[in-house]
Amino acid sequence: MGIGTHGTGLEDNFGKFRPCGTLPPSDTPQGGWVPCPVVPLTVSPRRFVAIARAALSSLVTIVVTGSLVRLTGSGLGCDDWPACNERRFVDVTTGHAAIEQVNRLFTGVVAAAVVLAVLASFFVVPRRGILRWLAAGQVAGVAAQVVIGGFVVLTGLNPWSNMVHFLVSVVLVTLAVLLVDESREYRPSGGVGTATVRLALGACATAAVAMVLGTVVTATGPHAGDADAPRFDLDLGTVARLHSASALACLGLLALLALRLVRSPDERAVLGGPVQTVLAVGLLQGFVGYLQYFAGVPALLVAVHIALSMAFWIAVVRVARVAFIARRLPSPAGPGSRGRAPGRAAARQ
Ligand code: HEM
Repeated sequence: MGIGTHGTGLEDNFGKFRPCGTLPPSDTPQGGWVPCPVVPLTVSPRRFVAIARAALSSLVTIVVTGSLVRLTGSGLGCDDWPACNERRFVDVTTGHAAIEQVNRLFTGVVAAAVVLAVLASFFVVPRRGILRWLAAGQVAGVAAQVVIGGFVVLTGLNPWSNMVHFLVSVVLVTLAVLLVDESREYRPSGGVGTATVRLALGACATAAVAMVLGTVVTATGPHAGDADAPRFDLDLGTVARLHSASALACLGLLALLALRLVRSPDERAVLGGPVQTVLAVGLLQGFVGYLQYFAGVPALLVAVHIALSMAFWIAVVRVARVAFIARRLPSPAGPGSRGRAPGRAAARQ
């Protein structure tokens, strides 16, 4: 982003170039300033995509660093908010305080990234309202997260506030991934049938249920972030089973979706790439989920599980978005041809 005044100016009487905004040498007959042309502030679509990606990366990163705060037992490393504690605003004197403090300071990076995205959305050419709304939603969400983060600390890591904190981040990541894909105008190459759209949206909805139930498992399990933090009085085995059942239901819907794509080259051309990605990440996530459960939830595996939950969510949102847009598009090979004509690999990540 920048005002494009470079290279503007005039040649003077002696054929020398003078940049705009400068006074002419006194011995020349020419008088006055060389005027600078007004060049509008614009952001190229390519640069906007990079800004949107930076916002997405920062939002995913803070989910993972936030989980590290919890998994290292540093949740109350700073026991006050917004200051770290009564003595210091910023405190890195103990390991727990330093971990919590670094995570708090990283909020500044996230805030800068989403504010830059919303500012850039006003100057990107061509202007598009959807980009402004998606970027503004991220700024509102990050502002809300600062307050919710305060609640988490001031309630002594109450599991409900922790769940809300995590799930608002998932909403933010959703807005960020939609912003990236809208800004790069990632469009399906053709239409898909109603059953395919339903399977894709159903998989996304079931993934959302799995995410929510995942936070219930965490709120019941041993990784509260502090030894004295309250926990849900639920049976860990039961909530973990419910969570894994919802995850398996989601993978089942994705498998059905993949089967439909195998039978329909046209639909495969539209959704094949995104569905392959989500299935690969989902299977890995399911594997890590069982591994960590049977290994007694070691912190490192839980961190991997949380990082993968972000990758899985991004992938499933992409599938749902493409299917949703494709629901009204004609099949690439013409009306009534779905499932018969050879497809083109067009909708790529
Ligand atoms: C698509 C598949 C899955 C997704 C998207 C997913 C997502 C999540 C999420 C978002 C959390 C909460 C993270 C947090 O609150 O910080 C979580 C926690 C958890 N998940 Fe999964 N999960 C999946 C599959 C599974 C499976 C198959 C199991 C097997 C039992 C499993 C076991 C667990 C456990 C034990 C926790 C609690 C970890 C802790 O103590 O913090 N997950 N999962």
